[in-house]
Amino acid sequence: MKKIVCKEFGPVDDLVWEEGNSLEPQPNEVVIEIKSAALNFPDYLIVQGLYQIKPPLPFVPGNEGAGVIKKIGDDVVSHKVGDRVYFMSGIGAFAEEISLDQNQVFKMENEMAFDVAASYQLAYGTSFHALVQRANIASGDEVLVLGGSGGVGLAAIDIAKAFGARVIAAVSTNEKSKICTEYGADEVIIYGSEKLNKDQQKSFSSDLKALSHKGGFDIVYDPIGDCFSEPAFRSIGWGGKYLVVGFAAGEIPKLPLNLALLKGASIVGVFWGTFAALDPQTNQKNIQTLNEMVADGRIKPLISKTYPMENAIEAIKLIGNRGVTGKVVLNNNR
Ligand SMILES: NC(=O)c1ccc[n+]([C@@H]2O[C@H](COP(=O)([O-])OP(=O)(O)OC[C@H]3O[C@@H](n4cnc5c(N)ncnc54)[C@H](OP(=O)(O)O)[C@@H]3O)[C@@H](O)[C@H]2O)c1
Repeated sequence: MKKIVCKEFGPVDDLVWEEGNSLEPQPNEVVIEIKSAALNFPDYLIVQGLYQIKPPLPFVPGNEGAGVIKKIGDDVVSHKVGDRVYFMSGIGAFAEEISLDQNQVFKMENEMAFDVAASYQLAYGTSFHALVQRANIASGDEVLVLGGSGGVGLAAIDIAKAFGARVIAAVSTNEKSKICTEYGADEVIIYGSEKLNKDQQKSFSSDLKALSHKGGFDIVYDPIGDCFSEPAFRSIGWGGKYLVVGFAAGEIPKLPLNLALLKGASIVGVFWGTFAALDPQTNQKNIQTLNEMVADGRIKPLISKTYPMENAIEAIKLIGNRGVTGKVVLNNNR
């Protein structure tokens, strides 16, 4: 079986696509023939040694995927050969096969395509957890989503609209703005592709405030950080919740805490992976709800591009170059 291998932390170009032995399951494991795997920003960071988790080398990157069970271990009771399943694995998904504990693997809804099952657990799981458990989103809330056309950003727009919120998206380009509008954003603001200086931050903050009908947002969803966070925080309304999701723009920002005091606002951390590990039952309920929302059309994950699995390097570079909208999926030959 073939796989993308990271032998040393370093440039994405150092990854290799190479032949390995076909996998055999441990007693509690299933071996999955991977049909589709989805790309996430942490894949770009992890191979360079820039992510908070550093797997032992060598390792196969790739956090989520879907496929068909081809072998089961002696103690496996919940799955059988031939089951269509999806999984979250942290690493290992950019390959033709993966061997996982039976509890890490979930049956796919019959009618769901592999590309869809592979690609929305992490982005939609994160945004659902953020908006529902961490921010208690309610109909009529005003939600600002930074980086609105990216994986977690677009999922946040889609989910917030399904909950009846008024959504303002913020993105770098016109093209990305159109995608947010197609996904239901009520207004979109463009912050450009360069970092903002102090004056630009001030004017970004006033422009954001002007877009709120309530004098400030109930929820700010921030997966980008850097120079965008403080102006966004300044646009929050009384009692608002500021969701700290990620730092795709580079720097981890520092906020003057008096802003939280003045607005009675909460800074709320979101770490979906740890939440899913510590509270698997709530996470499973979230995923079940998302499955139902996909099935009845209330949300519709965007797969903007697909690549053959062996072209994972090109796809990972695209995410680092700010070139991804929605989700990118890698496919093995069908
Ligand atoms: N907390 C959690 O549990 C959790 C879970 C999943 C992901 N995350 C984090 O959330 C962030 C987004 O992940 P994602 O998978 O949605 O990534 P993505 O699809 O690549 O989206 C990232 C967005 O960030 C914006 N951005 C701004 N500056 C950028 C830069 N210099 N390089 C790249 N993108 C830049 C881009 O939009 P514009 O061009 O419009 O600015 C892009 O759409 C990452 O930091 C990731 O680690 C956190």
